[in-house]
Amino acid sequence: MLGFRNLLDGVCEPGPDLNVITGDNGQGKTSLLEALYFAATTRSFRTERLPALVQHERSELAVAASIEEAGRPREQRAQIVRGVRRVAIDGKRPPRLLDYAQKTPVVVFHPGDLELVAGASSQRRRLLDRVALFVDPHGYASRAAYERALKERQKALEERGEHALDLDPFELLCAEHGARFQRSREQAAAALSRNVAPGFERLAPAELELSLRHVPGGTSDPARFLGELRDRRRKDMLRRAPSFGPQRDELELSLGGKSARFHASQGQQRIVTLALKLAELECILEARGAEPVLLLDDVSSELDPSRTGAVYDVVRAAVSQVFVTTTRPELFPTTIAAARSRADWTVSGGRLTRIR
Ligand SMILES: Nc1ncnc2c1ncn2[C@@H]1O[C@H](COP(=O)(O)OP(=O)(O)O)[C@@H](O)[C@H]1O
Ligand SMILES: [Mg+2]
Repeated sequence: MLGFRNLLDGVCEPGPDLNVITGDNGQGKTSLLEALYFAATTRSFRTERLPALVQHERSELAVAASIEEAGRPREQRAQIVRGVRRVAIDGKRPPRLLDYAQKTPVVVFHPGDLELVAGASSQRRRLLDRVALFVDPHGYASRAAYERALKERQKALEERGEHALDLDPFELLCAEHGARFQRSREQAAAALSRNVAPGFERLAPAELELSLRHVPGGTSDPARFLGELRDRRRKDMLRRAPSFGPQRDELELSLGGKSARFHASQGQQRIVTLALKLAELECILEARGAEPVLLLDDVSSELDPSRTGAVYDVVRAAVSQVFVTTTRPELFPTTIAAARSRADWTVSGGRLTRIR
C-alpha cells in the first residue's frame, strides 16, 4: 500500500477470517477499508472523486492485494497515476476495468448507506450497478459504450441541431448498448427483489411489507429505444440532457405501500438499508458463486443495538474474510467470532498495529 489517504506506506497481513480494527475518529479506519475496496473494485464507497484518495502532497497511489480463492493465489494491483486508474492481475493488464472489478466480490456496509433509502435515485442506481456487474456482466459491460455514444449524441444535438447527420449512427449505438445495459439493470432489480425478503423479515415487525419496484428510464428493446431517441431529439436538445435511458432509472422502495424515501422513519430507514445490503450480498453470492469479502465500517455508531445483532449474524454466517471497524471494541465481543479465527488491530495516525 502506497500513498493511500492518511495510511502509512507498508504491508499488512490480515487474518483469514474476522479482522476487528479499533481506533479513535480520524485515525484511518475508513481509509483502510477504502484501500481494500479500491484494490478490489478500483472505486471508493464514499466518493466518486478518486483523486481525493491520493495522499496529500503525493501524485499517485497503489494498493496490491494477495488473494486466495479456491486454493489458488493471485495478485491484484490497482493504482491511480496522474489521475488515471491502472490495474493488473498477476502483473497482466485485463482488457477492461470491469474484468478486474468482477474478480473479487466485496460488499461494504458503511454509515453513508442510509442514503440508499432517503437519498437521490443515483444512490439506488449504484446499488443496481453493483449487483448488475455480477448478475449480468455482459450486459453491464455495455454501459461504457452507451455512455460514450449518449454523450456524443447530446453534443451533436446541442452543437448541430436535431437534423445533424451524425445523430443516426450515435442513436443506433445508444439503442444497442443502452438496451443491453438496461437489461442488466432489470436483472439486478429482479435479483434484489427476490433476495430482499428474508433479511427484511428477520429485522422488521411481521406486519410490515417491503417491496422493490424498478422503474426503468429506458427499455431493453433496442428498436423501441431507437424510436424514443428519435422522437425526443428536440426535447433533449432544448433541455440539454437526454430524457430517455437507464441513466434515469429509479428503484422505488415502498414500505407498507408508502414510499420509503419520503415516509420511512429513521429506524425504518435503517432496517430497509440493512435489508438491501443483505440482499446485495445474497445476489452476488448467488451470481458469482463465491462469498464476497465483507467490509463493515463503523457499524456500531450507525445501527441501534437490535440491528447490530443482525450485522453480527451476518459476520458469524460469513464464510469469507470480514473486516470490521469500530471506535467501541466492547461492542464486538469475542463471542460473535466464536466459530471463526479473529485478528485484532488498532489504527492510529494511519499506522496499523496488530494487537492480538
Ligand atoms: N488524501 C488524503 N491524504 C492525507 N490524509 C487524508 C486524506 N484524506 C483524508 N485524510 C485524513 O485521514 C484521516 C483518517 O480518516 P478516516 O480514515 O476517515 O478516519 P476514521 O475512519 O478512523 O475516523 C483523517 O484525519 C483525514 O483528514
Ligand atoms: Mg471512519
